[in-house]
Amino acid sequence: MDAAERAARDRLGELIDGHIVTQIVSTAVRLGLPDLLGEEARTAAELAVKANADHSGMARLMKALAVLGLARESGDGTYQATPLSRGLRTGGESSLHGDAVMSGTCLYEAWGGLEFSVRTGSPAFENVHGQGLWEYLDAQPEDAAHFARTMGSSSGYYLSDILEVHDFSAARLLVDLGAGDGELVAQVLVRNPRLRAIAVDLPAMAVHTRRTLESRGVSDRCEVRAESFFDAVPPGADLYVLKAVLHNWDDEQAAAILRNCRAASAPDGRLLVIERVAEDTGGTLRSVVNDLAMLVLLGGRERTLREYDSLLGRAGYARTSHGTGAHGITVIEAAPVP
Ligand SMILES: C[S@@+](CC[C@H](N)C(=O)[O-])C[C@H]1O[C@@H](n2cnc3c(N)ncnc32)[C@H](O)[C@@H]1O
Repeated sequence: MDAAERAARDRLGELIDGHIVTQIVSTAVRLGLPDLLGEEARTAAELAVKANADHSGMARLMKALAVLGLARESGDGTYQATPLSRGLRTGGESSLHGDAVMSGTCLYEAWGGLEFSVRTGSPAFENVHGQGLWEYLDAQPEDAAHFARTMGSSSGYYLSDILEVHDFSAARLLVDLGAGDGELVAQVLVRNPRLRAIAVDLPAMAVHTRRTLESRGVSDRCEVRAESFFDAVPPGADLYVLKAVLHNWDDEQAAAILRNCRAASAPDGRLLVIERVAEDTGGTLRSVVNDLAMLVLLGGRERTLREYDSLLGRAGYARTSHGTGAHGITVIEAAPVP
């Protein structure tokens, strides 16, 4: 075997072991280690007692976490927190704690069906769990809470991009459809004191939307409706917002959501579609993973700008502007075609 063949073999080994890395990270989070590490040095034995785990198993997991940068191993056999482990603690606004839990459990099981999704074009999540992701979250409040926190963390990550690309100050009534945990609408309300809003989401998520609006002190200016945007879209708003929603759905369903917005919109109303728009060719690891995630988890897809234009056109909208923030989120503004 020459050097190039060895390097290729080593790289393939790393790629094949990706599932093990996912489980190491998710297991550490499910054992509560990012919180237990705190800011003090701890031995694996101490962590094992606190996490109710086997001493030897914990010692081996901690070594793996140290190699991955999720703990720092000191020469005296103790471990300390690192910037990566702090990003997995419960409660932090940008924490990926919920994402890590789900990525090693219900989402992990769904990814085991990637072959099914590629062969059939249908979401493996439903095939594996016997129900779609939204129905599953409705029945699993703990996972719904993890999901809500992940959405909130993502909205926080992209907030500055969205505010930089779109000026919300002219709007008087904003409707956020599929508002998730409500972080975006809450932050927009905080910055625009004359704005009122209606946040629409399914019952399992609406609980979290309300909680966020209350914690941000803007619940008096935002009504939360626990209903489906396939059934009803509140009429007469200046601005309808769909953030990270259309990519969850296939073209027929996405067009149906847009048609409901179009029917509810005033003639001079505007629509914001906020998504990570796909490249025409190529892509990054993040963008191709996101696209496959939409297939496996929901039967949706990431779309190029041209594909969003085509969807908007099917529903009686035309794009008026678009801009992409520094961290890769695109805000597409569209107006109803008279
Ligand atoms: C990917 S999340 C995006 C959440 C939020 N917009 C954000 O960016 O953080 C999609 C949201 O759509 C909601 N959703 C799914 N089906 C829905 C329906 N039929 N009616 C209203 N909301 C729905 C989900 O509960 C979830 O909160």
